[in-house]
Amino acid sequence: MKFSLNPKKYDDVSTLSDNDLICYCCDVDKQSIVKAIKNGSRTLKEIKATTAACTGDECAIVNPNKRCCSKEIKQLIKLVSL
Ligand code: FES
Repeated sequence: MKFSLNPKKYDDVSTLSDNDLICYCCDVDKQSIVKAIKNGSRTLKEIKATTAACTGDECAIVNPNKRCCSKEIKQLIKLVSL
């Protein structure tokens, strides 16, 4: 069993810092997505268009969650839009 002093839950955006990546395929960090939301992007489609996040195809290889980053982007849209 592995232990970590500061474990991050990559599927919970509230535990990630501004510089942590959300989209590993396209190297898009949390603060870039938050900025796009604050500038008016309110849907996954709009985030894709403004940041290029969620447009890659190597998720299973490069993303710690082993899947696409769309879930985390949708979490951020909800959090930031409140
Ligand atoms: S992790 Fe975002 S498209 Fe693959």
